[in-house]
Amino acid sequence: MRILYAASEALPYIASGGLADVAGSLPKAIRDKKHACRVVMPLYGDIKDELRQSLRFVTSFYVPVAWRSQYCGLYEGNVGGVKYYLLDNEYYFRRKGIYGFYDDAERFTFFSRAILEMLHYIPFDPQIIHCNDWQTALVPVYLNLFYRNDERYRDIKTVFTIHNIQYQGKYGTELLTEVLGIPEYASSILQYDDCLNFMKGAIDQSDMVSTVSPTYAREILDPWFSHKLDRMLVPRQYKLRGILNGIDTNVYNPQTDPMIYETFGISDAKKGKAKNKAALQAEMGLPQAPDRMLVGMVGRLVAHKGLDLVKYILEEMISHGYQFAILGSGDKEFEDFFRYIHDKYPQSVGLTVGFIPQLAHKIYAGSDAFLMPSKSEPCGLAQMISLRYGTLPIVRKTGGLQDSIRDLGEENGNGFTFASYNAHDMMGAVDRCGGLFGNQEAWDKAVVNAMQCDVSWAKSAEEYIDMYKKLL
Ligand code: GLC
Repeated sequence: MRILYAASEALPYIASGGLADVAGSLPKAIRDKKHACRVVMPLYGDIKDELRQSLRFVTSFYVPVAWRSQYCGLYEGNVGGVKYYLLDNEYYFRRKGIYGFYDDAERFTFFSRAILEMLHYIPFDPQIIHCNDWQTALVPVYLNLFYRNDERYRDIKTVFTIHNIQYQGKYGTELLTEVLGIPEYASSILQYDDCLNFMKGAIDQSDMVSTVSPTYAREILDPWFSHKLDRMLVPRQYKLRGILNGIDTNVYNPQTDPMIYETFGISDAKKGKAKNKAALQAEMGLPQAPDRMLVGMVGRLVAHKGLDLVKYILEEMISHGYQFAILGSGDKEFEDFFRYIHDKYPQSVGLTVGFIPQLAHKIYAGSDAFLMPSKSEPCGLAQMISLRYGTLPIVRKTGGLQDSIRDLGEENGNGFTFASYNAHDMMGAVDRCGGLFGNQEAWDKAVVNAMQCDVSWAKSAEEYIDMYKKLL
């Protein structure tokens, strides 16, 4: 099979969230199963020079953006044997940052249109174009509107993956003809609740819609989770799938990870984790107490990550003797709160506001437990990374957290879970983890068990391939 994987971000080139991890690792896993999978993404100004210099210029062409005709440079790169196409237009992409500009609708209209135009210039005829999130949601829309009469495009199937239904790409209807270049007669494809909704268009026009865990695929049929798209999804369940993400087990490998203090494997996990913990405590200004359970938290400091629960009860948890290592940035409310708590309890809370990949790896490796009480979580990667580093996840049962973590009180448990969105229920799970931490022998066993969980792409890549096959 031949798959073109379209994403607005992909590692190692650029990342703002979990999509980049997926776009940087799933294509490799598909390739490992002997299918051709290539990736296409924008050539952002923020891509580091050394990566930019590894690219090869292929050609350039022009892309229609409504009545405009815009330059597009085509570059290619190679990541672990997977070909990446990077599309260049300095006006759209040479900026500080990758999203959040006044003209994002036009920037990703250009990108989506350019993906389709590019097929005239590359020696690769995809059978499937796999799009991700609103930034590439217009690909199936344009394909069906403008390209189907051309032999090369006639049989291409499209898959659209929702990584987070909250971000839909909603814009004013006045952009329809002038920016998106979509004729008035086709306006109903994108029109939704008084605006244009890119994600809605893709849900309607793709051959298959998927999301990043089976539980989230069910949750988004419910108005509580769907951010108003349930009435698009419920009647289209016949083409909706949930496939759990994996992680890149080469990048996240405690045996080789150059970012952690000291590498370790299953056989020397106890010693290795103790060293990483002591070093992490020192780096984050915490007392080096081996007997205090150290709970890591890494991620965006936003409400849907469940931080209102943490805010409500952190002081009480601190009074139970735990230490916390917190890394993230986001809403001012939470940044301010964590700064306040950090100042008040410097012996118990280590805090770095920002995003520093090295420190994230150190927290995964050096913590005893990892807290992720998300209100909703399409998949979540941190809980899987934690397992790999022998750090026991404490998660709320939602989305991919529910699909990847089972409570140690149940059969095949690998972490701690709580169901209702309630601060005391969360603390109950943390305390149960704390209880196990007090039982050295049982704890060591749970750590080894966590490290043995399969969080690779192997199984899920098979499910994607299965889904593609059914379309052909
Ligand atoms: C989004 C989701 C996250 C998921 C990631 C990759 O960032 O919020 O849950 O793990 O996409 O699919």
